[in-house]
Amino acid sequence: MAVIIDGTALSKKVKEQVRLETEVLVQKNNITPHLVVILVGHNPASESYVRGKERACIKTGILSTVIKREENVTNQEMLDLINELNTDNSVHGILLQLPIPSHLDSELIISSISPRKDVDGFTPVNVAKLANGNGELIPCTPKGIMKMLDEYQIDITGKQCTVLGRSQIVGKPIANLLLKANGTVTICHSKTINLSAVASMADILVVAIGKPKMVDDTYVKSGAVVIDVGISKVDDILCGDVDFEKASKKAGFITPVPGGVGPMTIACLLENTLLCFKKIVGESK
Ligand code: GUN
Repeated sequence: MAVIIDGTALSKKVKEQVRLETEVLVQKNNITPHLVVILVGHNPASESYVRGKERACIKTGILSTVIKREENVTNQEMLDLINELNTDNSVHGILLQLPIPSHLDSELIISSISPRKDVDGFTPVNVAKLANGNGELIPCTPKGIMKMLDEYQIDITGKQCTVLGRSQIVGKPIANLLLKANGTVTICHSKTINLSAVASMADILVVAIGKPKMVDDTYVKSGAVVIDVGISKVDDILCGDVDFEKASKKAGFITPVPGGVGPMTIACLLENTLLCFKKIVGESK
């Protein structure tokens, strides 16, 4: 039976470090770190994630503002809003909750976020830094996964690391981070031939495909580390992309859903907000 990687416990440690550091920084600078989250439309999952982010900010002493826009907002209105936030000295982090409605040009809008306030690490400047192996603002979910591997002293060097999914949010950045950590990295996707056979060669398997419970024991090498990034509701119950019952019988380590990657994403968002704050406040003095 696999060791369960406890994302909730580790996220509490990270959040407590952020809280303590925030307290010191506020006292020293007399300015409070401020994260602005932009939420477009009424996607229930996005609304729930944004509430979670807001709650976490409040608990750690970070000021949080949620700006809501209706589904029919225009590209220009979004660009104007982001421009305003970019130049507002009281704002240190900007997060555009994804996905946004399809009529909007997400690439254009994300690119307009100041790289210094880009807590998600999604702007071209920060994506390029990460791809070059010099990431500063690293996307929150991949950053959280690397922290979990580190906490459980999972050695990456030379290991076969296989990522299922090639998204900008998870697949591509985690592949870059694993490569930087000297893993031998394979990225699989919906067109990969014989996916389960490829996956079952992995020492470390990161699953981010958005298909509930798709990855069962046939995808898992005996003793492998299985990181489940998926989160879906099936019959009102949260589950990941991995069939936990089956996969955990074969894995050496596995993340649960809920209580695995999810809480780490939020903890890393707080960390990134603090990173932006420190850079902005330090530079402006
Ligand atoms: N939607 C799902 N995950 C994320 C994330 O990490 N950041 C943003 N901005 N939106 C998301």
